[in-house]
Amino acid sequence: MSLLIKNIGELFDGYKIMKNTCIYIENGLIADIGKEREADEIIDAGNKFVMPGFVDCHTHTVFAGYRDFEVEWKIEGLSYQEIAEKGGGISYTVEETRHASKERLKKEALQRIKEMMAHGTTTLEIKSGYGLDKNSEIKMLEVIEELNREMPIDIIPTFLAHAIPSDAEAEEFTQEIVEEMIPEIGKRKLAKFCDVFCEKGYFSVEQSKKILMAAKEYGMLPKIHADEFTCMGCSRLAAEIKAASADHLLMTGEEEMRLLASAGVVATLLPATPFVLNEGYPDARRMIDNGVTVALATDMNPNCYTLNMQFVVQLACYKMRMKPLEALKAATLNAAKALKMDDSIGSIEVGKKADLLIMNVPSHTFIPYKIGVNLVEKVIKEGRVIYSK
Ligand code: NIG
Ligand code: FE
Repeated sequence: MSLLIKNIGELFDGYKIMKNTCIYIENGLIADIGKEREADEIIDAGNKFVMPGFVDCHTHTVFAGYRDFEVEWKIEGLSYQEIAEKGGGISYTVEETRHASKERLKKEALQRIKEMMAHGTTTLEIKSGYGLDKNSEIKMLEVIEELNREMPIDIIPTFLAHAIPSDAEAEEFTQEIVEEMIPEIGKRKLAKFCDVFCEKGYFSVEQSKKILMAAKEYGMLPKIHADEFTCMGCSRLAAEIKAASADHLLMTGEEEMRLLASAGVVATLLPATPFVLNEGYPDARRMIDNGVTVALATDMNPNCYTLNMQFVVQLACYKMRMKPLEALKAATLNAAKALKMDDSIGSIEVGKKADLLIMNVPSHTFIPYKIGVNLVEKVIKEGRVIYSK
């Protein structure tokens, strides 16, 4: 099976811009760039902009329990912690998710994933973390596994130690995660990554390290929700254990940035979260200037309900002073790095999967420019059109 995409006005391959070019695809892989060849199928890109599919490398897409009731609290100026104290936050979603059937969780997530695909996401990471007991966490991971099997995009599972249940004590719950949950999840290969919400009131640096080291024994690679509300050593831990990524990083200092850069830890920034929480944004500019590899993701969750990576790119440009090409690279190639998948996805290079987007704009500068509508015209996953406007 071969496919030629011709008349590409502008191409961003993950590194640089090319004009007036074409892409030749064979058996789902990119086989040639810039040479028009005979193909079984031809798509005329109509001189539009083509780029790699978005890699949404940090989401909580599987959950039950919408939190739209928190919006007015946010407008009143309540903080994330105050909202949690008022009965919203993670524990609200945990209650709902524990009581939801696998069928319901799957059906609702499926709808979200379809919307993500329509907005250009071709690879998606999803975390557990709204179960907080062994059976409910495994229920979530099984749903993620089924979604990956049934959907045309790649879905990467992460086990997330997200919070301490209200009836538990932090040390004991950490022990339960290490001794009960991780061995079973590890043996059943239900997660590629293990992530921890390292934060005051959640898991301490020591507890996070214990969890991530135990998960490593079972082949799960470490990720950390770090420095979101307090800079208490979580990004330092990420550098120390060479985590695949440190995520959020709203409060990260320059010293920590240098540690992340030299350890090769990807900084995954999630600007839609401070957007809905009315907080300051991570200092992406300073991270990039310190040599940190910056990735972008939606953080899709019941607090921050966006399925749209284009919106994240727009926030990154205007609110974090990332340049359009830096933001597009962060949302594709660098996000693939955060998932340790950059050998097969994230850029348009010969030998990689043909995951790409034809956008309904003439050039990359229109992605941050034209706000509030879906700019995707066609989504191609492994050489197959999976969405068309
Ligand atoms: O990544 N920061 C912690 N966890 C999620 C939010 C979870 C929630 O509020 O339901 C996040 O933003
Ligand atoms: Fe998150």
